[in-house]
Amino acid sequence: MQEDRSVGPNALPVKLHVNGQDHTVTIEPRYTLAETLRDNLGLTGTKVVCDRGSCSACTIWMDGIPTLACMTLAIDSVGRKITTIEGLSQGDRMHPVQAAFVKHDAMQCGFCTPGMVMSCAPCWSEIIDPHWPMSNML
Ligand code: FES
Repeated sequence: MQEDRSVGPNALPVKLHVNGQDHTVTIEPRYTLAETLRDNLGLTGTKVVCDRGSCSACTIWMDGIPTLACMTLAIDSVGRKITTIEGLSQGDRMHPVQAAFVKHDAMQCGFCTPGMVMSCAPCWSEIIDPHWPMSNML
């Protein structure tokens, strides 16, 4: 039988696997994944707009599945493979959805664009090109 373990309110070390690399951050358990990515890891491509799960600007991938980082606690992300917009391309080679956004000038003001790309890109990978290297994201 697994025993429940309480944590907090004090900060504790949390190990996250982001864009293929392990990071250990010291955060309070109340920190969302979006806050942690932006404030602790400097991955500011993940935007926070509504901060309540309605706009998708904060979309990242968790184990390859689009996930709202503002609605996910960082401590619940331990052991998961997290991909942010910074980890989507392969070096200088943009993901086809990123390239399409650039080609068709689909930026609007640009603030929510990373969330749009992270929401659309799995459709490309699943439907159009299942061989786009998911290994880059895991
Ligand atoms: S910031 Fe709007 S859904 Fe997360």
